[in-house]
Amino acid sequence: MNVGFIGWRGMVGSVLMQRMQEENDFAGINPVFFSTSQVGQEAPFDAGKLLDAKDVDELKKLDVIVTCQGGDYTKEIHPRLRAAGWNGYWIDAASALRMEENAVIILDPVNRDVIDAALSAGQKDFIGGNCTVSLMLMALGGLFRAGLVEWLTSMTYQAASGAGAPNMRELLAQMGHLHASVADELKDPASAILEIDRKVTAELQGDAIPTDHFGFPLAGSLLPWIDREVEDGQSREEWKGYAETNKILRSETPIPIDGICVRVGAMRCHSQALTIKLTRDVPIADIEDLLANDNEWAELVPNTREATLSRLTPAAVSGTLKTPVGRVRKMKMGPRYLSAFTCGDQLLWGAAEPLRRMVRILVE
Ligand code: HSE
Repeated sequence: MNVGFIGWRGMVGSVLMQRMQEENDFAGINPVFFSTSQVGQEAPFDAGKLLDAKDVDELKKLDVIVTCQGGDYTKEIHPRLRAAGWNGYWIDAASALRMEENAVIILDPVNRDVIDAALSAGQKDFIGGNCTVSLMLMALGGLFRAGLVEWLTSMTYQAASGAGAPNMRELLAQMGHLHASVADELKDPASAILEIDRKVTAELQGDAIPTDHFGFPLAGSLLPWIDREVEDGQSREEWKGYAETNKILRSETPIPIDGICVRVGAMRCHSQALTIKLTRDVPIADIEDLLANDNEWAELVPNTREATLSRLTPAAVSGTLKTPVGRVRKMKMGPRYLSAFTCGDQLLWGAAEPLRRMVRILVE
């Protein structure tokens, strides 16, 4: 299979390349690398020269295209390729095609049946899901599979990486800026904390702190709005929870999902606090079993302080494929109300991993 890669040098693309190397995925394909800016230079992995990512005649030769180039590229090139009669598989990290009728959102540990049915039906567009949605489903797959979710609300704690590589840098620059503003006072254990806080607050409210990318300070603060407004005061990130979850699961009756999406000062792990209304009262031990045994990445963290703080944080999960779920307990509202908390690396299961696994599914 000739598999073309576009946008492989960006942040998600780089994680994809790294994962494909780790899993020896390149052995089963003939990779062809494309570029929008460095055509003719050496491609990685001794794969010849970089070809022009906008050359439809070159792209048409491919069996599979994997793009992490972004939505603008998808919107420009995908229709041109299809109009030119190209009938290969398009695997995309961007959201541009996600909700199209003939596109499948890929998260194979959760919806392999949907993917297989689409392949049998001759569908060709396979799109990675929104990171928050994919990570929630990886962690809670067992509950959905058992038909236990009547509705769900998710309060998110989303990392800087979801906004892009420059935003990760800006978060660190903001942290450094705040620290520098009180570095001398911090060296003196006897300095007054309220004076330190006054100075930090002045920096947060002043215009010297770098905010080119986020527009506001994230370090020492949080941003309770992600992406643009869709309607009725709901952000697009919040809208995706309902739209994409039900598309991934191909729910006959859509499950109501809503919440508030918030950016916090984590680097690349998205966390979510979940309130779930169960369709029936199920003992907590059965729920724990379902969560622990749904897929090999969802791990149940016992609801103790020690296990939670050592295993259910961005610091513990970052860079791993684990999608732990913990804080699982029945809430005071009644026996059908469940709380849970989950954490996952948004560059792995939230972005690159479903794409590389889709290539594997095609090669199998
Ligand atoms: N929209 C996500 C975020 C990124 O802003 O965190 C990936 O889907």
